[in-house]
Amino acid sequence: MAFRNLSDIKPFEKKVWLSSPTMHGEELKYMTEAYETNWMSTVGKNINEIEAQIAEFIGVRYAVALSSGTASLHLATKLAAEKLYGQARPNEGTLRGHRVLCSDMTFDASINPVAYEDGEAVFIDTEYDTWNMDPEALEKAFELYPDAKLVVIAHLYGTPGKISEIKEICDRHGALIVEDAAESLGAKYLFNGEWRETGSFGNYNCISFNGNKIITGSSGGMFLTDSLEDADKVRKWSTQSREAAPWYQHEEIGYNYRMSNVIAGVVRGQLPYLEEHLAQKKAIYERYRDGLKGLPVQMNPFDEQRSMPNYWLSCLIIDKDAMASQVRDDHKALYIPETGKSCPTEILETLARFNAEGRPIWKPMHAQPIYRSHAFITRYGNGRGTSNAYIDRGAAWDAGMDIFERGLCLPSDNKMTPEQQDVIIELIRNCFE
Ligand SMILES: Cc1ncc(COP(=O)(O)O)c(C=O)c1O
Repeated sequence: MAFRNLSDIKPFEKKVWLSSPTMHGEELKYMTEAYETNWMSTVGKNINEIEAQIAEFIGVRYAVALSSGTASLHLATKLAAEKLYGQARPNEGTLRGHRVLCSDMTFDASINPVAYEDGEAVFIDTEYDTWNMDPEALEKAFELYPDAKLVVIAHLYGTPGKISEIKEICDRHGALIVEDAAESLGAKYLFNGEWRETGSFGNYNCISFNGNKIITGSSGGMFLTDSLEDADKVRKWSTQSREAAPWYQHEEIGYNYRMSNVIAGVVRGQLPYLEEHLAQKKAIYERYRDGLKGLPVQMNPFDEQRSMPNYWLSCLIIDKDAMASQVRDDHKALYIPETGKSCPTEILETLARFNAEGRPIWKPMHAQPIYRSHAFITRYGNGRGTSNAYIDRGAAWDAGMDIFERGLCLPSDNKMTPEQQDVIIELIRNCFE
């Protein structure tokens, strides 16, 4: 590829998105069918169809279609909590007085349900091999909090975490798992010699059909399980928890969390294209990996032996010694340009200037203002308060913040053309000039 200066490159006429919906036409057919048959409600054929298809694809017995991945995570978390601690009073969360060990580098929707249920999230640091929950840190957390009985794990950017290790630790400590596979639909993991889909490993599993996901309903999510009892409970809770009575009778708190049959029509129209989207995302990742060779950067890593990511977002991380100085407060970022070096802020600003959308790495939960008072556990134990004014202890271990500082998400839209992607690669190369 010939090298051009930034001044010779034109901004994209149409924005290149991080990850936008890709429609195929069949979505409209199923939405129209819902309209014409008047199943404009939270019951109907589209819902039944996608529940059956997704359950079969993931390899679980039951799927319950819900209004969002967040709704699914809420009910999954509540179900786990009720199993562990019993039914709460209607004005109290089921996790009141209990700690939950949670992925730290994830979207807040993974772990907010712990707070919805009055629980206290304890954040578990990230490992560098897959950018997911560090099993060593999880083990440390169980040492510090032996009473913890629930773990929430996410597979960031569609890369499966260290599922075998995490499941073994949870089994040993008698803990249940809520698996957040919102970003990883279609990603596989080799478990006990068998390739299985993410979304099948937890005791309670969740996926999302948010507009930016690998397939979408414009919104929507699903709860996945092998337990008929759990599926029935989630279905009941998601439709206002009605008891068997001729009138509205309630023994437990309810929610309006069921998926609409119109949304389900969109998902139904997308499902035949999941494999195509997976292949496109993989091609994007590989094109970046090859195009960025020679720069002091690495792509978001995965375990080649044990996992097949869905490559939902391609990301990069800049080598430590190639980082230009960058500071971030809670709202803004500044950097000092340096020859031969760059930083996420410079790259993201350059991409934006040329009408392409990147994004910072999801900022770890333990560093979010809302959760700053919560415990944060690394592989070395308590991750808070590790420095000492009188003793030089070097920089504190915090893998999540390190990846956040040095990493970024690249435009990963499956409608981006190879030519557009080559320009993006050129823009990134320019940042290191
Ligand atoms: C990791 C993760 N968990 C949960 C969610 C929430 O899903 P939804 O937007 O469908 O509520 C998302 C994305 O939106 C996500 O990326």
